[in-house]
Amino acid sequence: MTTSASDRLEDVLVQGDANPIALDLGPGYLGEALLPTQSVANAYATVLADLPRAALGYGPELGPRPAREAVAALRGVDSDAIMMTAGISGMLDVIACANRSHGGTILVEAVSYDLANAVFRDHGYKIARTRPEESDPVRALAQALELHRASTAFIYLTPTLGNPTGRTMSIEQRNAVIELAQRFDVQIIEDDAYADHVEEADRPLSLAELGSGLETRDHQPLVIGLGSGSKVLGAGLRVGWLMAPPEWLHEFSSRGQFRSGGCANQIAALVLAHLVANGDYSRQARRVRHVLAERATAFRTGIAETSEGLLTPSQHWAGGLFDWIDAPNPTAIERGGELEGIRVYAGTRFGEDSRGHLRVAYGTVSAKEAHEAGRRIGALSTNPSTTTTTFLEDQ
Ligand SMILES: Cc1ncc(COP(=O)(O)O)c(C=O)c1O
Repeated sequence: MTTSASDRLEDVLVQGDANPIALDLGPGYLGEALLPTQSVANAYATVLADLPRAALGYGPELGPRPAREAVAALRGVDSDAIMMTAGISGMLDVIACANRSHGGTILVEAVSYDLANAVFRDHGYKIARTRPEESDPVRALAQALELHRASTAFIYLTPTLGNPTGRTMSIEQRNAVIELAQRFDVQIIEDDAYADHVEEADRPLSLAELGSGLETRDHQPLVIGLGSGSKVLGAGLRVGWLMAPPEWLHEFSSRGQFRSGGCANQIAALVLAHLVANGDYSRQARRVRHVLAERATAFRTGIAETSEGLLTPSQHWAGGLFDWIDAPNPTAIERGGELEGIRVYAGTRFGEDSRGHLRVAYGTVSAKEAHEAGRRIGALSTNPSTTTTTFLEDQ
């Protein structure tokens, strides 16, 4: 029997599976070993048994009350300030659409999440980055605001375990960012996808919490916070939430999309509520933090063994999915790795010029594989042919 192209396409069930690679430290999502499959299966069964009409009906525009209360409990905020969503990506799209009248530029950090920028570009925005030479993120943002003040629609930031750097802004930096947003009268969209990868006791207040009650001069919330279940429960649930003042949420949720479809992901919002209530969400977040830390240690040990000091993590491991590794020749290592069946990304993908960093993601490899990948990537960095290729390319 012959297989047609469309048959083969139907075999592909997971984004990226069409292009498999042996040691994949590229993608920013949880692999099978880290997914809470049984908990989620139980939660769906319970929700469907206990609340069939709610589970399969249109939900309230802001999301079912138990889900809003569950997120509020997780974050220690008022449930009236929470709207359930179908994840951060979709909400970035809606917010980008809603802000079109405000200006044509979105300010992002010198390196930032590439696919958020893809969403913004879909809406015709230009992306303005802060200067990479400025190591203080607050000063960098102030300079960029000064430069683009007339055209800025909003600032997009991931202040907790950011993608790609894994950096977390201190509380002082967060307060300073809020002050800047007030001074320049610009809204901040806070992408808090990785908040649960930091233990609650160590997690600084989010920008959305710090800015709650503050408004821009045209009465928009100074900060809109976006959260996601993707990096704890799995991206397939497509569940997340938005944090903003209740009055604004009522207006926002009256957009045609929510009036027509109700809650953006009703059944998954109810599942999330169930998992928070029975403690599985917190247990799973703890497990994810623990396993990712083991993988990071293993990879870092691997590069230390073979890279002769050429590859070094840019900071202590603080959690999250990503490591940001100082590398003299990242584009050549990315290419060399691919040839050896190892995927890591050069910083260029996130806005960096070709000298600088590798982003390594620990979502889908075991600790043993991470160690092996670290050793081989480390060896590649010392390989003169890799270095020469980059040197020529970087001229
Ligand atoms: C910073 C950041 N924001 C958002 C997302 C996507 O979130 P969601 O799955 O909720 O759309 C990702 C996924 O990689 C991410 O790294």
